[in-house]
Amino acid sequence: MKINVLTLFPDMFTPLQVSMLGRGLEDGKWDLNLVNFRDFTTDVHHHVDDTPYGGGAGMVLQIMPIKKALDSLPSTGKVIITAPQGKTFNEQVAQKWAKEDELTFICGHYEGFDQRVYELADETVSIGDYVLTGGELPTMSMIDATVRLIPGILGNAASPVEESFSHGLLEYPQYTRPADFEGNKVPEVLTSGNHQKIAEWRHKEALKVTYLHRPDMLKDRQFTDEEKKMLREIKSELD
Ligand code: ADE
Repeated sequence: MKINVLTLFPDMFTPLQVSMLGRGLEDGKWDLNLVNFRDFTTDVHHHVDDTPYGGGAGMVLQIMPIKKALDSLPSTGKVIITAPQGKTFNEQVAQKWAKEDELTFICGHYEGFDQRVYELADETVSIGDYVLTGGELPTMSMIDATVRLIPGILGNAASPVEESFSHGLLEYPQYTRPADFEGNKVPEVLTSGNHQKIAEWRHKEALKVTYLHRPDMLKDRQFTDEEKKMLREIKSELD
């Protein structure tokens, strides 16, 4: 997958170039192309923004350098703008994007875009109901969540399917050595060696964490008979 990012701060993108994603870059599993749209200005001062028509405080990012930067790319794939008014990004969106060959993100900074910039994009996406100073951190979050789903990026190929959100439940608790830390013991079933029992315990615990912390995620779930039974047990254990 190729990912282009139009940004005024390409130096901010180092977090995507270390650890697992960094190794993926080195191995050619994905490609990151950082484009500073200030390089596409034509005035001597390299302005990318101007005062808003109609007056008011602040500055507005102009369309021209962004359009020129986009046009300079041989291809773009899906074009995405990160902004608080977009639809909220989630794991389903990451799964959909992970199947694309190419994505292009446009990051604003401090100020808003000229409304016509939004017309250059296929989607406007937010990472949540809070405002950041720029689109760089949201873009990095979305790229991380997307690229880690590309086969071969994570060491353990099975893990993205097992984890939170992918099957509609939060993740069950995990433990590792020591089995007893200052009297705080690992649940006995996990050291029993009984794989069937362990699988059942994990399934029930996943249901329990989801019920306790994100009941909204269970609202439209089609429960199996086994899950209905587990949920009844969970509720009575909590009483
Ligand atoms: N830019 C500023 N705040 C943002 C947010 N919450 N999501 C996406 N982009 C943003």
